[in-house]
Amino acid sequence: MLAVFVRAALHPGRMKPSRLVRPVTKIPERSLVHQESLPKLPVPPLKQTCERYLAALEPIVSKEELDHTQQLVQEFLKGGVGERVQKGLERRARKTDNWLSEWWMQTAYLDCRMPVPVYTSPGVVLPRMHFQDRQGQIRFAAKLIAGVLDFKRMIDTETLPVEYLSGKPLCMDQYYQILSSCRIPGPKRDTVVNHAMGKTPPTHITVVHNFQFFVLDVYNSDGTSLTVDQIYMQLEKIWNSSLQTNKEPIGILTSQHRNTWGKAYNNLIKDKINKESVRAIQKSIFTVCLDAPIPRVSDEMYLSRGAAQILHGGGARWNSGNRWFDKTLQFIVGEDGTCGLVYEHAPAEGPPIVFLIDYVVKYMQKQTEIVRSPMVPLSMPQKLRFNITPDIKRDIEKAKQNMNIMVHDLDVKVLMFFHFGKNVPKQHKLSPDAFVQMALQLAYFRMYDTCCSTYESASLRMFKYGRTDAIRSTTVDSLRFAQAMQDPAKQGSERLALLQKAVQKHKENTYDAIHGQAIDRHLLGLKRQSIEDLTSMPEIFMDTSYAVAHHYCLSTSQVGSKTDCVMCFGPMVPDGYGVCYNPMDEHINIAITAFNSCEETNAAKFAQAVEEALLDMRALLDDTATVKQ
Ligand SMILES: *[C@@H]1O[C@H](CO)[C@@H](O)[C@H](O)[C@H]1NC(C)=O
Repeated sequence: MLAVFVRAALHPGRMKPSRLVRPVTKIPERSLVHQESLPKLPVPPLKQTCERYLAALEPIVSKEELDHTQQLVQEFLKGGVGERVQKGLERRARKTDNWLSEWWMQTAYLDCRMPVPVYTSPGVVLPRMHFQDRQGQIRFAAKLIAGVLDFKRMIDTETLPVEYLSGKPLCMDQYYQILSSCRIPGPKRDTVVNHAMGKTPPTHITVVHNFQFFVLDVYNSDGTSLTVDQIYMQLEKIWNSSLQTNKEPIGILTSQHRNTWGKAYNNLIKDKINKESVRAIQKSIFTVCLDAPIPRVSDEMYLSRGAAQILHGGGARWNSGNRWFDKTLQFIVGEDGTCGLVYEHAPAEGPPIVFLIDYVVKYMQKQTEIVRSPMVPLSMPQKLRFNITPDIKRDIEKAKQNMNIMVHDLDVKVLMFFHFGKNVPKQHKLSPDAFVQMALQLAYFRMYDTCCSTYESASLRMFKYGRTDAIRSTTVDSLRFAQAMQDPAKQGSERLALLQKAVQKHKENTYDAIHGQAIDRHLLGLKRQSIEDLTSMPEIFMDTSYAVAHHYCLSTSQVGSKTDCVMCFGPMVPDGYGVCYNPMDEHINIAITAFNSCEETNAAKFAQAVEEALLDMRALLDDTATVKQ
């Protein structure tokens, strides 16, 4: 029996604290020493979080609501409830490696029942490729596969460099969770399996073409990986034996609502052959999707269209069935040059994924044309078979319908902002991230004449097994700045001072967040601890303000990369925006999403407002700089 490591995080309570340490046999010793030296995630002081919570509410709730919440917070602090729960949380922090990680994994991912495409899985759009022919596409895929295997070698041989943030080493655990792993649907809660930790780590990837899945062994018997040439030949064989397009798109089942998929999954794997095929996909190192071409669009529309393709595959008619959305890493290589990846979010955040992309892109650039060398003939990659019963057929039909609804509902706009990049805010000694965040605040304020709860993800990787906390970008200062920009009575110098103050505030909040002193995960911890303690739910968590604070109409993330690409993800709420940006030196790539079913939101309009906000803010800096001279 294969020793599969199910994330320890999935079984709270029954687990002894020491078991919460992942089995690290596969993690090289040097990395292990590094991991062990990382500090534990702290539990912030209760009073500090309560004060910061009230400050965060100030710009986004009414005066009456704020007064009411202030009372509830006072009761929570003074009445003993807060202190008791905080004590419980501190006890948990002492007994575990990370008091938050398993709760976060459940709350943010595994308990979440929405479909993974669009709702949780981020995508990365690579620059468009211009393949002359099928060989071009296959060659690109072969190089890409070789590049990922080269990256895997760094993981396997402990040569992956430790990353730093503000001079502090970061937890590298996420890199060990993204290969050979897969999410598995459950009727109420999903799980994630990681086969890299098992006794027999996988030596194959899965390739899908025209909805047909293949097992491609990428290692020779002596443990060396296949060369680009060899992978190319194998991919061509796969291509040649999957020419028919009349196959059932079995993979589209993975795009369903998780309860629905959980039920369909149990039915699917009742059949022994299906079960083996599913296992082969789950166990594979990663998946490569060789996509069919999609209808051409204008160059201007191309990136937005590409981002949508990467996020959902374009619908049942196109490539949505050419995926296994539960798979942690899926690289997409389209015949029409649309390339990128989509990843299941549970095991990792964007930055490690983009680090991998940067590495692979660099690797691919170093590969010159294929030199045909004599080689040992390799066996035909195995095609995975599925027995489609009438039940399964019905589930596929339902999944197709739902996917098409999701495709029609997702509104995507990729903005390539070419006027400037990090250089401009840097010249003015402003944090580029804070600068972009303030542009988002201004854009939103101009469109809606109000501000909203804003989420920006902040890395907690300074701490062992750290994931993220939230930077709440909407502050009293950001609101004052946005109001001043819309107030004709305000002078440029006054606006600039407010911008600088808002940027400074954002910088402080960012510093607090990455040092484990933000409020959101602490509040979640207090709430979960109350549930654990079986006490009645403290009123602060049932308050309107709490709901408003967690209704993030702007869900944002800065994911920087060396490659000129952009990450994208769907909105967090039905009436909000998802905004992911990559500030490069001289330009900024921004992906904006919304839902068409919401009358009030529009990705293209918001993109336009962001562009104008950025330009107006630069004008503000330039004008006022001239005054100073
Ligand atoms: C795939 O098919 C093409 C066209 O028929 C042929 O030229 C090529 O040799 C085949 N490749 C393999 C690996 O079978």
